[in-house]
Amino acid sequence: MRILIAEDGLTARLILTGLLHKFGHEVIATTNGAEAWEIIQQPDSPRVVILDWMMPEMDGTDVCKKIRAMGGPYTYVIMQSAKTEKKDIDMGFSVGVDDYLTKPLDSEILRHKIHVAERVLKYETKLSLYAKEMESLANERARQLIHTDRLATLGTLSAGVAHEINNPLTFIAGNAQTMERAWNQVAPQLQEQNEQMAFILEEFPKMLTGIHTGVNRISKIVSGLKRFARQEKYIKHPFEISTAITTSLEFCHSKLKANIQVERSPDDSLPQVFGDIQQIEQVLINLIMNAADIMKSLPAGHLGIKAIQEGAMIRISVQDNGPGLPHKLLNTLVNPFFTTKSEGTGLGLSISNGIIEEHGGQFSAHNIPGGGACFEFTLPKYTNQSESLSEGL
Ligand SMILES: Nc1ncnc2c1ncn2[C@@H]1O[C@H](COP(=O)(O)OP(=O)(O)O)[C@@H](O)[C@H]1O
Ligand SMILES: [Mg+2]
Repeated sequence: MRILIAEDGLTARLILTGLLHKFGHEVIATTNGAEAWEIIQQPDSPRVVILDWMMPEMDGTDVCKKIRAMGGPYTYVIMQSAKTEKKDIDMGFSVGVDDYLTKPLDSEILRHKIHVAERVLKYETKLSLYAKEMESLANERARQLIHTDRLATLGTLSAGVAHEINNPLTFIAGNAQTMERAWNQVAPQLQEQNEQMAFILEEFPKMLTGIHTGVNRISKIVSGLKRFARQEKYIKHPFEISTAITTSLEFCHSKLKANIQVERSPDDSLPQVFGDIQQIEQVLINLIMNAADIMKSLPAGHLGIKAIQEGAMIRISVQDNGPGLPHKLLNTLVNPFFTTKSEGTGLGLSISNGIIEEHGGQFSAHNIPGGGACFEFTLPKYTNQSESLSEGL
């Protein structure tokens, strides 16, 4: 251990230093309180200090007071003195002294007292490490709670909005359809009857198309919101991830143009995963569609889908060679409503993230050094405890 001593008497200082060396400690010796205080203020100063009571410039109790006012890691203070009066000892403790050494010095007692200091400091270090760990855990937990809370609020809000929009939407869609049918009957007659109707004749179908586009877009948002609000019940079974990948690729077939080459790593020898296959297909479809969107105009697009085993989980990745994700977006991607597409809802990734969380897996995204984005998620492997575990959730 490194020990700082402050002692103005030469003989006493030499004896103390000698003994501490003999016990295997490193000693920094000073001759008065002010000098000792200089060293104590430096970073990485010794954490055990032996102070003489009476010293020129600054005496032991003053140094001790300063040490206690300083804060930071704990310094163990031993006061050395010929003063044995009860009131003196009492005064020393009241300014924060941890222990006393009486003069003349007894080497055995000194050894024991240094041991005590060592023990106290060891526990103090452990405790402060533990406290730091607890603090970061608490912070992390608070952060998660805020995030979950926000998503829960958004979920409730989305469910409400989806429900509210749905009624007027049905109403608009129904009427637009009737109008369209009626129009198809009326238009030929109007044309014959009146030349001035030409403008309406031309514009009316466009208006109808406009209504259709609007309605379709609203329905897309509404069904996205509903899924985001997780109103569906999950039905979990063991299944092969390769089946889900095949189905999803088939579903996206028309989106994967000739410029996009699909590469699948062999995945049929993997153990089964446990989850709701339709929900997982939903995740895959969204990732494949996003990749197809981003590679639409590339001369040579490449879509890689890989599944590997990783301990108790299966990791699935969907990778493209598009421009990748802007760095500042990597963290906000799963936030609902973030989209860079004029026709996008910005819900695909948040829904996917929600589905994977619900399965006890992790969803993440990163950019590939050579260019392109890689989305990954994990799913638990199926075991004979999967069903009971998932009921407990
Ligand atoms: N593979 C990808 N490469 C680059 N950007 C992507 C990729 N996938 C998603 N993004 C970005 O993330 C946004 C959100 O995606 P998503 O939640 O699926 O909603 P949407 O597809 O409706 O926009 C996209 O608009 C796009 O900007
Ligand atoms: Mg999408």
